[in-house]
Amino acid sequence: MSAAMNGAIKVAVRVRPYLGQEEEEGLSPTVVVDGSHVTVLTRPPQIYAFDYGFWSFDEASPQYVSQEDVFQYLGKGLVDGAVSGHNVSCFAYGQTCSGKSYSIMGTKKSPGILHRFIVDLFEKKLEYEQDSSKEIRVWLSFMEIFNDCPHDLLSNGNNPKELVIASHPKVGTNIAALTEAACATSLDAQRLLDYGLKQRAVANACECYIIAITCHLQHQGSLLGRTKTGCRAAGYSNGVQFTGASHRPCWKRAAHEIWCKVCHRPGGQCYQ
Ligand SMILES: Nc1ncnc2c1ncn2[C@@H]1O[C@H](COP(=O)(O)OP(=O)(O)OP(=O)(O)O)[C@@H](O)[C@H]1O
Ligand SMILES: [Mg+2]
Repeated sequence: MSAAMNGAIKVAVRVRPYLGQEEEEGLSPTVVVDGSHVTVLTRPPQIYAFDYGFWSFDEASPQYVSQEDVFQYLGKGLVDGAVSGHNVSCFAYGQTCSGKSYSIMGTKKSPGILHRFIVDLFEKKLEYEQDSSKEIRVWLSFMEIFNDCPHDLLSNGNNPKELVIASHPKVGTNIAALTEAACATSLDAQRLLDYGLKQRAVANACECYIIAITCHLQHQGSLLGRTKTGCRAAGYSNGVQFTGASHRPCWKRAAHEIWCKVCHRPGGQCYQ
């Protein structure tokens, strides 16, 4: 698929390296990437066009695309969109072991789009707040779907609330009880992600996870815009598609300020 909706949607294919046994078997690649064209080496070859074809098969190749490159192509636009008041979303889809989690989350040594997004978002937040009348407030939610059930990965484990996925006529898909944790710094967000990852039902094996970052753009204390960023990775067999956590009025967090999402005042407890 090529760019759709005036370039608002970008579709990329990424080819990961062979691993372990695949490497030992000495197989040669079955796809070739040439710019935005991906050729599957069947007879006859099948050529597909995307917005980007990322060749991450071997680092020695001059066309090798690193985690940072992927972020530059796909993630930067998400940050720019979020801080300019647009809802943005990043969805990784593919067969198991194809590299979804690697691309979205990455590793400590080689962070993925999400971690780079968070660092960049908070850098942009600092820039935005150079003007003391402006402010960006950030919340993070993290849930997984396991055995067809949604789980709140930021819940503290005491009396976890059942997550009900509802469709709201105005806000779209809404999960009222999902924790939305306020983040003052990128380190806050990273810590929440680390916490959430440890809460998963089975490490490295969740069917789908959804991370939603909500930004409020404030000017002189009033709300200018509200944006949502979703980063998701879904298994091939169960490509769950629904919008991430939506607007819950308030979220409480001991260590940080509480910002009310309805009255937009710190310390607010407004459940209108
Ligand atoms: N671009 C890459 N460069 C190096 N290693 C990679 C790359 N992509 C994936 N891998 C490695 O391939 C393995 C599988 O990747 P990953 O766990 O991201 O798959 P997945 O699509 O999330 O699978 P699942 O559906 O089971 O969650 C991991 O060991 C990961 O480190
Ligand atoms: Mg995965």
